[in-house]
Amino acid sequence: MRHFLKETDFSRAEAAEILALARHFKQRRGGHEQPLAGQTWAMIFAKSSTRTRVSFEVGIHELGGNPLFLNTNDIQIGRGETIADTAKVLARFVHGLVVRTYAQADVEELAAHGGLPVVNALTDFLHPCQIYTDVFTAAERWAGPSGDLLASLAGRKVAFLGDTGFNMANSWILGSALFGLKVSLGGPAGAAPGPEIRALAAQAGGSFHFTSDPYEAVAGADLVYTDVWTSMGQESEAAERRQRLLPFQVTAKLFAAAEPDALFMHCLPAHAGEEVTQAVLDHPRCVIFDEAENRLHVQKAILAMLARHRA
Ligand code: CP
Ligand code: NVA
Repeated sequence: MRHFLKETDFSRAEAAEILALARHFKQRRGGHEQPLAGQTWAMIFAKSSTRTRVSFEVGIHELGGNPLFLNTNDIQIGRGETIADTAKVLARFVHGLVVRTYAQADVEELAAHGGLPVVNALTDFLHPCQIYTDVFTAAERWAGPSGDLLASLAGRKVAFLGDTGFNMANSWILGSALFGLKVSLGGPAGAAPGPEIRALAAQAGGSFHFTSDPYEAVAGADLVYTDVWTSMGQESEAAERRQRLLPFQVTAKLFAAAEPDALFMHCLPAHAGEEVTQAVLDHPRCVIFDEAENRLHVQKAILAMLARHRA
């Protein structure tokens, strides 16, 4: 049984296959194979979502399957039923799980107990579906319609600005290790990524650069990336975060300090005037809506890979 809980759950060769399959699904939308035909996939969400929810529901449907959306407030997990029991029960009904929650340990526990493939649709620790999509979105620009997607990433540098201690920064660290990108994180001194993600990156043979100088982070970058300053679950810290992260706001001036053809991406939702200015969101090299659309194509490829490996 294979799961997708972190970026490195697929090998580099498998990740390359996912990028190619995503391109295939994108080019043949409406007329491709349906590897989830006859299957139901449950989507357990403990946090809000627009892109992830809609792209998975539409994607499962387009692969021939039936998506079943379950808000944790509506199922017995919300009243204390254990994750292990929930996984064992769902395994009697459905063929796979897509899970958005807080603790990475919870998706790992579901994977360990359910006998079902589990996809991490965001935890506090990682957002791997987003990173595969972001890498695909950059690669389709750099490789063109028929070029080698993986090869187009060679020697490229990503700069991540802002909240360097949460899911998107961690995911860029692991994603860069897998896809062979250089990554530089620009965040407040003292907010360098922690030992857990360092250990995973080292296991994957990756490394990263951390700086509290945003201009040092973006120098030579082919892709400039940011995320909200207040993630889901951190709402009580919003004012303090706004103040602490302000030097890392992606302004037109900071974006201009990257490579002349650099792309700007943001996982969205964006807060113009906080982590990024409206001028950057309106920039011709801002590709946030391609990025949002590509969630659909890339996640379909991830689901198709997992369905292939179901015992
Ligand atoms: N980027 C992303 O995961 O968006 P949602 O929270 O809307 O799913
Ligand atoms: N870091 C953000 C990402 C949202 C897609 C959050 O966890 O809320």
